[in-house]
Amino acid sequence: MTLALPAAAATPSHAVYSSAGDRAAEKAFVDALMAKMTLEEKLGQLNQPRGLGSNTGPAAMAADDAQIAAGAIGSILGSHGAERTCRLQRVAVEQSRLGIPLMFASDVIHGHRTVFPVPLAESASFDPEEVRIAARHAAVEASAHGIHWTFAPMLDISREPRWGRVVEGAGEDPYLGSVMAAARVRGFQGDDLAAPDTLLATAKHFVAYGAAEGGRDYDVADISERTLHELHLPPFKAALEAGAESVMASFNEVAGVPMHAHRGLIEGLLREQWGWDGILVSDYTGVMELIPHGVAGDREDAGRLALAAGVDIDMVSEIYLKDLPAAVREGRVPMAQVDASVRRVLNAKFRLGLFDDPYRYCDVQRQEALTLNPEQRAAARRMAQKSFVLLENDGDVLPLSKSLRTLAVIGPLADNRHTMLGNWAVAGRVEDTVTPIEGLQAALGDRTRLVVVKGAEIEGDDTSGFDEAVRAAQSADAVVMFLGEHPEMSAEANNRTSLDLPGVQQQLALAVAATGKPVVVVLLNGRPLSIGALQGRVPAILEAWYPGVEGGHAISDVLFGDVAPSGKLPMTFPRNVGQVPIYYAHKNTGRPPRAEEKYTSKYIDVHWTPQYPFGHGLGYTTFGYDQLKVERAKLALAAPEQRVSVRVTNTGKRAGTEVVQLYLRDDVASFTRPVRQLRGFERVTLQPGESKTVTFELGFDDLSMLDASLKPVIEPGTFTVFVGGSSSATAEAGFEVTEQ
Ligand code: NOJ
Repeated sequence: MTLALPAAAATPSHAVYSSAGDRAAEKAFVDALMAKMTLEEKLGQLNQPRGLGSNTGPAAMAADDAQIAAGAIGSILGSHGAERTCRLQRVAVEQSRLGIPLMFASDVIHGHRTVFPVPLAESASFDPEEVRIAARHAAVEASAHGIHWTFAPMLDISREPRWGRVVEGAGEDPYLGSVMAAARVRGFQGDDLAAPDTLLATAKHFVAYGAAEGGRDYDVADISERTLHELHLPPFKAALEAGAESVMASFNEVAGVPMHAHRGLIEGLLREQWGWDGILVSDYTGVMELIPHGVAGDREDAGRLALAAGVDIDMVSEIYLKDLPAAVREGRVPMAQVDASVRRVLNAKFRLGLFDDPYRYCDVQRQEALTLNPEQRAAARRMAQKSFVLLENDGDVLPLSKSLRTLAVIGPLADNRHTMLGNWAVAGRVEDTVTPIEGLQAALGDRTRLVVVKGAEIEGDDTSGFDEAVRAAQSADAVVMFLGEHPEMSAEANNRTSLDLPGVQQQLALAVAATGKPVVVVLLNGRPLSIGALQGRVPAILEAWYPGVEGGHAISDVLFGDVAPSGKLPMTFPRNVGQVPIYYAHKNTGRPPRAEEKYTSKYIDVHWTPQYPFGHGLGYTTFGYDQLKVERAKLALAAPEQRVSVRVTNTGKRAGTEVVQLYLRDDVASFTRPVRQLRGFERVTLQPGESKTVTFELGFDDLSMLDASLKPVIEPGTFTVFVGGSSSATAEAGFEVTEQ
């Protein structure tokens, strides 16, 4: 049933509707509309309160009908549901003077009601097409629930696993992060923003939020301009090139300037240099926070700074709405700045097609049909299967046989529904999830007896359940343990100083492993963990992250070999928290670590290498690499195209998928370069004995670096290429870039 919608009676006075996508028509339409707006109505368009029940920060006023009718609200955060959003839309269109439709924004981070694996997990798939499809499903479902605009993808590169928000990003690498950024934007926005099943995407958080000191959320990012440009900006560039129509400012400061007041990076870089014309939204109370940051003396000052920096929309601070009218009237804030922001907001509404039909997202029947349907669930299951990373598999313990007589299922997360959803599943419901136990039951039927023992809680020091867990293991043919972090240990404000398994879970794993049974630990968590103590004692470890509503099925699919694991780590796993920051693309230093030489860059108490490097991940077979070739031994600067090929062979006994990775090093340059940088990857599926030649094309973007003025250039000299199944790949070849 389509909700009964008001017809002509609701038509506001500016009803000169024209099709979205036509920029000249858009300008004419927005010009005409703005000519009718009062200052208060304009500032209303820049005001974004939260919807009822939606709170992701300090308490803030929720949107109410009277404010909407007064034209004091342009968009709402966190209201969803076709019926609810439509009711509010009707107030805006029918009761406000100009009838300007609202935009409904929400954090659709990894699916809407059909919750997909968390973004870090999706990134581990190294499968941008699958990630695009996941975002596409999220857009279709969320838009059917009345949402126009998602606050995703999060593009913050981070080498700081203590920071809870690494779970929302693509990991530590700007190349992988850029590929995933573009895939997600394309998935959310589709080909046509005006279609009723696409969402406006938000590249967030601009910028360097992932560089928070000490991994404390919201803290200072004190980084060089070079690091900003090499590490943090590339995913934003990729997202904007893929068409992202919105960007969110980050809570942090960058080298002394809070991002909500950073005119140089917002107006200067995004708008002037990159020519981007979308909407810049503040983060939750981000405008108001300029006061505690210490750059604004009062609310008006905060609003003035943020607007001047280019922040168009004030999320929940209500400073633009309440404190800017007098400032504009009395000449302290230029009207032109207000107009520029209002224009961008109205442009976005135009591009979404809301002026053509503000009720296009109001179809309750469509909402029902597009919620958790079999196609959506199947996509979530596939995405989860591809996101799992097999860290260890001694003695080929995995895959498990489906004809086990008894399987012990141990650990605090075996039947924890919330863990399947992870954090940031705004519309997710625990009752929609398939738990690990349910997945095992569905895969095994009643052929196998499951002995389920919790053994310990996620946190705390109670070991009283260990004996029962050990007895269950002793009585079983094999053991699967579900260990990790509660979702509230990841995502916003959930930072940790330890990367160890919380509570007594590691001890539990070691006690169970001491039985000598084939033990598999499945990890459910949102960040790199330090789990070195399990290595060599627990034969198999599968990193399954927070896998989404279909997690339980996907885990069983992989445990029993219906699907082989193929994910790779998007972040380095350290040996202990003291190694942080640790990442593969580090600099060599003048004294690279050498065991036999004391005065080199390392620790005295732990090896300098990580527990598991970026790009690591095993399968149920093995792969061999040979015939690595660079097409041209010498390249002229003027034609910097290179082709690298390698033959990959499945050398094991089962079919499998390998993520073939190519890394590049600029051997000598006028600025120090990382020891290697990811420059390409491809997923290749091979049958036993089968080979395939994989070819990578390298061009200017891959070979260039930033010169002293941060302009990309290629410097003549030698380059080394590394190809293999992780960032520790050893197959290498070289070539030279020459002046001529
Ligand atoms: C704060 C978070 O930093 C941001 O990512 C999110 O989009 C907003 N809250 C709105 O929920």
